[in-house]
Amino acid sequence: MSKAIYPGSFDPVTLGHVDIIHRAAKMFDSLTVSVLNNSEKTPLFSVDERVKMLREVCKDLSNVKIDSFSGLTADYAQRSGTDVIIRGLRAITDFEYELQMAQTNRKILPTLDTVFLTTSLEYAYLSSSIVREVASYGGDIHEFVTPDIAEKVYSKLGVNRNGK
Ligand code: PNS
Repeated sequence: MSKAIYPGSFDPVTLGHVDIIHRAAKMFDSLTVSVLNNSEKTPLFSVDERVKMLREVCKDLSNVKIDSFSGLTADYAQRSGTDVIIRGLRAITDFEYELQMAQTNRKILPTLDTVFLTTSLEYAYLSSSIVREVASYGGDIHEFVTPDIAEKVYSKLGVNRNGK
């Protein structure tokens, strides 16, 4: 059975992530989307909240599981019994960082491969930090995340858009 993991911060999960999840889910028998519990970052949403949001947006994908992890992605992949990491590539600016991560992961665990899926053009500009920033100024994020997540982001940031 082919299995892959898609690790990330997902703070929050965007429509760009959802696009990658749908496409990766078609390529593997089983896909685990996993939220990194990173003690060095101060996220907008807790790990539990991010896991819940991912569960909601993936509820119709029968071969997708949602999880969280701490520590190295390579160790997590090994514990999960997979040699494949999925990552989305948006633009050339992502490339250096993603290449460095993929190569570091292979150094830690030589059997580990990273499969890059190029983000669909309509989401090429999109990131969780853009979602948080636009929302923090009261901007419209409904083209970036699902309606339910948009409301959660505004509520978490204390932004009242007066029904807009
Ligand atoms: O969504 P993100 O923030 O771009 O995801 C980054 C993530 C979680 C994939 C990356 O930070 C990661 O793998 N962190 C775990 C620590 C680790 O394994 N570091 C070694 C690879 S550089």
